[in-house]
Amino acid sequence: MIELSVDNSVRSLLKRGIAQLREADVPSYTLAVELLLLHVLGRNRTWLYAYPEEVVAEAEAERFFDLIARRAAGEPTQHLTGKQEFWGLEFEVTPDVLIPRPETEHVIEVALDRLALRELRANRPQKSDGAGLQIADIGTGSGCIAIALAKELPAANFLATDISPAALAVAKRNATRHKVADRIEFSEANLLSPVGAQHVAPHPGKIQNSASLASHGSRITDRDSRLFDLIASNPPYIGRREAPALPREVRDHEPHAALFGGEEGYELYADLITESAKHLNPSGILVLELGHNSLPAVQPLLAASAWTNIGVTNDLAGIPRVLAAERL
Ligand SMILES: C[S@@+](CC[C@H](N)C(=O)[O-])C[C@H]1O[C@@H](n2cnc3c(N)ncnc32)[C@H](O)[C@@H]1O
Repeated sequence: MIELSVDNSVRSLLKRGIAQLREADVPSYTLAVELLLLHVLGRNRTWLYAYPEEVVAEAEAERFFDLIARRAAGEPTQHLTGKQEFWGLEFEVTPDVLIPRPETEHVIEVALDRLALRELRANRPQKSDGAGLQIADIGTGSGCIAIALAKELPAANFLATDISPAALAVAKRNATRHKVADRIEFSEANLLSPVGAQHVAPHPGKIQNSASLASHGSRITDRDSRLFDLIASNPPYIGRREAPALPREVRDHEPHAALFGGEEGYELYADLITESAKHLNPSGILVLELGHNSLPAVQPLLAASAWTNIGVTNDLAGIPRVLAAERL
């Protein structure tokens, strides 16, 4: 009997992987196949196309096709490789955190532009190292916003909050990886209100929203009185009613606490803006990422009595993506 040998060359693996993902209707299937093969082989893209005839070991080929099968079944590529690039930095991602998106880089751009403008107005050099600045990132997830800003502002100090302890664990590892952990305090919190022993919670074990904490009273902690020069946030902003239309990669694999802001999506912004107004210094800057249709609901929340210099920045698709304002 003639035994047919399987072609395990790089070229053949790429071709077969692409065919499987195309068949499964996976978006950007060629890129996904390349990333998964690079991940398995521990190589870079130049190598992949320089050595198409290289034969891949049987165990690695098996591992590759196992990942292809999982990708075809809907798992995001980033969960299979465990990483995603953001602001030129590599971030660990797990199913506990939102996969950082390219549009969130506009939050970093707007925050840095607004800080530079503040320096210009104060007749100081526009390029600052952030000395003396206190910055908060609300809903930090993987930590991508706080960490990218910490890299750009090497003397600034940060508070990064999240309601999810599992997300905070990932964010801390990312901060350590990028050597900024000593300047970022990570805190389990509902927006800016710490969750846990420091507060007198009327219903132990249940996370309180800021309104109910305020109405039931809480001990004044350092955090309660801490003021910031910049507050940035990419809150959950998808409407639960939009869930059926989401790609399965998102709906079935990313944390729902990171995706859904309520039935409509924009519900968290009111508390976020009220809390930020309480926690910003005069001329402090608020930078918020918006959902694709959030602007009409969110912009009116910036009451003229508290905010000035309100600006909207579109993303590359022309969608109003970042809302920024200054505390009066
Ligand atoms: C859209 S994700 C953003 C993650 C990350 N900042 C980014 O831009 O990729 C929103 C994050 O907010 C967190 N979150 C949701 N509700 C929150 C709340 N009430 N207080 C603090 N964090 C919250 C979620 O756990 C999630 O990590």
